[in-house]
Amino acid sequence: MNIGVLGAGQLGRMLALAGYPLANRFTFLDTTGHPSAGIGDVMIDTDRKHLEAFLEKVDLVTYEFEHLPVSLVQAIEEVRPVYPSSEAIRVCQNRAEEKALFDRLGIPTPAYRLVESAEQLEAAARDLGCPVVAKSVTEGYDGKGQAVIRDPGQAADAWRSIKHPRLIVEAFVDFVREVSIIAVRGRDGQVAFYPMAENQHLDGILRYSVAPMPDLDESVQQVADGYIRALLDALDYVGVLTLELFQTRVGALLANEMAPRVHNSGHWSIDGAVTSQFENHLRAIQGLPLGDTAARMPTCMVNVIGREGEASDILALPDAHLHRYDKSERPGRKLAHINLLAPTHAELLERVRTCAALLPDAPEPRFSFE
Ligand SMILES: Nc1ncnc2c1ncn2[C@@H]1O[C@H](COP(=O)(O)OP(=O)(O)OP(=O)(O)O)[C@@H](O)[C@H]1O
Ligand SMILES: [Mg+2]
Repeated sequence: MNIGVLGAGQLGRMLALAGYPLANRFTFLDTTGHPSAGIGDVMIDTDRKHLEAFLEKVDLVTYEFEHLPVSLVQAIEEVRPVYPSSEAIRVCQNRAEEKALFDRLGIPTPAYRLVESAEQLEAAARDLGCPVVAKSVTEGYDGKGQAVIRDPGQAADAWRSIKHPRLIVEAFVDFVREVSIIAVRGRDGQVAFYPMAENQHLDGILRYSVAPMPDLDESVQQVADGYIRALLDALDYVGVLTLELFQTRVGALLANEMAPRVHNSGHWSIDGAVTSQFENHLRAIQGLPLGDTAARMPTCMVNVIGREGEASDILALPDAHLHRYDKSERPGRKLAHINLLAPTHAELLERVRTCAALLPDAPEPRFSFE
């Protein structure tokens, strides 16, 4: 089976690493001119002239990046199966569509408004009560295209800085922690759920994910499973889907956003779960049985951002697994991640601190359950 992947970054790279044992081959289509996958057959298509040649080579198509023109994905669907479908991309790439689907399925979200001018943004900030977060409805990632407004008077500046014709404005959630749920749905509709992860962000970029969480009430996991199952079924989804949530002081979950793909907060599963998110995505899109999603041990994923530490120091840590993306250093760039495993969460946190001290730009790890 030759799998075509739209996008050629580290997520595609890790998909290929998971797919080689299944005798999959990979062809990546890169439209940026800067592919970093460094694996498989990479076709650079900055002039958008190589789509036909790409489709000629592949049996089915998936993607590692959802900010693609929907029309392009629809055109591909005419020729080859695409999983997840263009409908999943259409909804997940647009925060307004995404929130409308959450509303329709009864999945709670922060209070929000859609605005199309600086004046409307200011009115929404007054209406919702500051602080609020304004986000472009499309194209955002890693906290880009966002501004926190602490006073309605800052709305005009925020509008100018985001430079987008349509924004979603959300009440700023005073969350206890950020969590995510990852699930996978097969072609036959079978669904498997990963244990939820607690995620620590800095400046909108994920830094640490811990799964499973030591203090998560089973009922909260079941609520999250129910939300993501509703989304998977509504979209007749095939593959891995991620839902990011805020957990509030009373234990409630509010949906933030979803991603129609393997996700950074699921990288822990490469070493920490029986079957990784990458392998399960490939199983799902090929119509193969899904693998066990259970965690083997408490696991923490440490993102390496901007500058890399000394590999030999990291690899000397017990049960540490370094996954480098073979990219050059640049501020804010995801370069690698390290999965740390330990028999208990207490030992895990010690290992995370030791590991963070080896990374030049790592923030202090802080978890809600410490
Ligand atoms: N309504 C909110 N209340 C509180 N914090 C928020 C809110 N919205 C976003 N944030 C913070 O900003 C981070 C980035 O926001 P969001 O996930 O919407 O954007 P993103 O750029 O799509 O991120 P990514 O694609 O990298 O996950 C969140 O993980 C959270 O820390
Ligand atoms: Mg996010």
